Amino acid sequence: MPALLEIEDIHTYFSTNEGIVKAVNGISLSLHENRVLGIVGESGSGKTMTALSILQLVPFPGDVVKGKITYDGQDLLNMPVSQLRRIRGKEISLIFQDAGAALNPVISVGKQVEELMLEHTDMSKRQARAFAAELLSQMGIPDANEMLDRYPFQLSGGMAQRVLLAIGVALKPRILIADEPTSNLDVTLQAEILHRLRRLREENGTAIMLITHDLGVIAQMAEMVAVMYGGSIVEYADTLTLYRRHMHPYTWGLFQALPRIDSPDQSLKPLPGAPPIMLDPPDQCPFLHRCLKATAECRTSPRPKLLEVEEGHLLACYNPMELEQPS
Ligand SMILES: Nc1ncnc2c1ncn2[C@@H]1O[C@H](COP(=O)(O)OP(=O)(O)OP(=O)(O)O)[C@@H](O)[C@H]1O
Ligand SMILES: [Mg+2]
Repeated sequence: MPALLEIEDIHTYFSTNEGIVKAVNGISLSLHENRVLGIVGESGSGKTMTALSILQLVPFPGDVVKGKITYDGQDLLNMPVSQLRRIRGKEISLIFQDAGAALNPVISVGKQVEELMLEHTDMSKRQARAFAAELLSQMGIPDANEMLDRYPFQLSGGMAQRVLLAIGVALKPRILIADEPTSNLDVTLQAEILHRLRRLREENGTAIMLITHDLGVIAQMAEMVAVMYGGSIVEYADTLTLYRRHMHPYTWGLFQALPRIDSPDQSLKPLPGAPPIMLDPPDQCPFLHRCLKATAECRTSPRPKLLEVEEGHLLACYNPMELEQPS
């Protein structure tokens, strides 16, 4: 099956007075209909900038300087903004990481949903308002009618997240990019949001890119996982393979840092050492300085390429962890 969205070797850089910050440094990924791709990696690894690059929403002075992004045969990076606007929200929607900042502070919640519907469907104003109320109540918001007239600053974090999810799924997009949709939420709300995402996929075949710090969420939701570090993918595999047979020392560190496999808290703990330097980074393995397995070859070689080590399992490493042989 051809991919619905194909990201090919994208580079998203910020030109600053100090130099060039390579936030995304050569990422390739495919999203397929009715599939969930998980993206995991510690803070600053470039997950959000990858997501924003897809819809040309990278903030100034950032820009996608190289690469290609194809959605359903269309070139997203060279598309006129007017055409891109028709795709954003309707065909590809994005749930922003920061719910507070993603909602327009001066427009009521109801209006934000209504405007989306009026722009992309032939609903009347009255229909759009009724739809908005119904949608918010489906997202578990009590007193949805009253909620329509509230402003974002009047919402709790959990409510804002639900509203954002409602906006993200309102038009039944073909692709949903969800950037940390469950972080900082209590377990009940987290489960509810994951349930909504699963339903969206089951009912519409939506392809989901799920960005998270939480390996537990990945295990529940995703078929494939990309592990990011320093603006690039260091390991990529189907979820089971990644859990059982991860080989990159960084991925290994992530799993080591989990408290216990049966613990409900599966969020990533910081690994020892400092995150990589993204400002004018040398052409070297980004994980070199924190890596337990670094060798002389790693220190003198260019950044390792992401290569297939077994079918469907890709790795960017000169000296991977060895897999335990089954006894
Ligand atoms: N305005 C900016 N100017 C310069 N560099 C920036 C700017 N915004 C982001 N970056 C750089 O982009 C890198 C990637 O940021 P990004 O937000 O994609 O990380 P992330 O993986 O989403 O992290 P988190 O898990 O904290 O959300 C950061 O390390 C930062 O150095
Ligand atoms: Mg982020």
